[in-house]
Amino acid sequence: MEKIILDVDTGIDDALAILYAIESKRLDILGITTVNGNVPLDFVTKNTLKILQLADRRDIKVYPGAKEPYLREAEHEYHVHGTDGIGNALDDMEVTMKLETSFAPDFIIESVKKYPGKVTLVMVGPLTNLAFALKKAPEIKDKIKRLVLMGGIVSKAGYGNKLPTSEFNIFADAEAAKVVFHKGLDITMVSLDVTHQTKLDMSHINQLKGTKYFDYVKNSTEVYRLYGEKLYGKNECSLHDPLTIGYVLDETFLETVPVYVDVETQSPLSYGQTIADFRGQLGKSPNMKVCVGVDANRFVDDFINTLKR
Ligand code: BDR
Ligand code: CA
Repeated sequence: MEKIILDVDTGIDDALAILYAIESKRLDILGITTVNGNVPLDFVTKNTLKILQLADRRDIKVYPGAKEPYLREAEHEYHVHGTDGIGNALDDMEVTMKLETSFAPDFIIESVKKYPGKVTLVMVGPLTNLAFALKKAPEIKDKIKRLVLMGGIVSKAGYGNKLPTSEFNIFADAEAAKVVFHKGLDITMVSLDVTHQTKLDMSHINQLKGTKYFDYVKNSTEVYRLYGEKLYGKNECSLHDPLTIGYVLDETFLETVPVYVDVETQSPLSYGQTIADFRGQLGKSPNMKVCVGVDANRFVDDFINTLKR
C-alpha cells in the first residue's frame, strides 16, 4: 500500500477527501497534518478529529501544523465552508480523540527520513507545512516520493475561485507555494481546471442512504452546494480535494502534461496565480505535471461507491 501523509485544511471537501482515502482501504495513512486555510487552525484540527471519529478511525494520528501562512496574513473561507468549516454538520459531536503533540512539519521531516523515497505527500490546503519542512530540513527534498497537491488554475485564467486568476490554496499562501514549486520535487498539481468539472449533487448523495455517511455528507455539503447554486445556478459542489485522492488511487482519472509553472507573489491583481509556460517561452524545464483532462463521471462514481462500501 502506498504510504501517504495527508495535509488538510478541513474544510467540507477536505473532510470528503479524508473519508475517501480511509474507505478506499488502499492507502497506508501515516498521519494527517493540519494547516491554517479554509478556517483557522483550531477549527481545522477539531474538524479533522471529528471526521476520524465519524469514520471510527481513532488510530490515525493527527499533527497540528502552521497557524499562519509563511509570510502573509491569513484569510479564511467561511462563506464557502460555513462558520466552523464543515457546514456545522457535526456540532453535536464531542471531540474525545487525542491530538499528537509534534508539529506537522516535524512529522513530515521524520516520516520522510524514516521511509526515504516511499512517502507520497497529498496536500489539499495551503502549502505552508511543506514550505516550513523544506526550510528546516532541505535534505528531505530528495527523499519525498512525490507530492500530489490540490491547487492552482493554469488553462482557465479568469475562472479562479479567489481572484479571477487565482485558486484559494495557492492564494492563501503563495510564498509557500513558490518555495515548494522550485525544489525539484516530483509534483502533480490537481488544479481547478479539472476539479471544477467534478460535481456532487443530491442524486449522488442519495446513493449513500443507509450508510453511516449519508446524514453527514448531506448536511455538511448543504452550505457548499448553496454557494455553488448562487455562483453557477446548480445545487452542487466541486470535489476538489477528493479528486486529488482519486488521482493517488487511480492516475487514469486525470490527463496530465509536464510543464514549468511559477507563482505570482507581487501583483495585488493576480497574487497567487499559477502561471504555466505551455509554450516553453521561459526556457525552463518542467517542474510539475498539470492536469488538462478528467474522467469526471467515472471519478465521481468511484468516490460514491467507495463511501458506500
Ligand atoms: C480548495 O480551496 C478550499 O476551499 C478547498 O478545500 C480546496 O482545497 C479549492 O480551491
Ligand atoms: Ca482544502
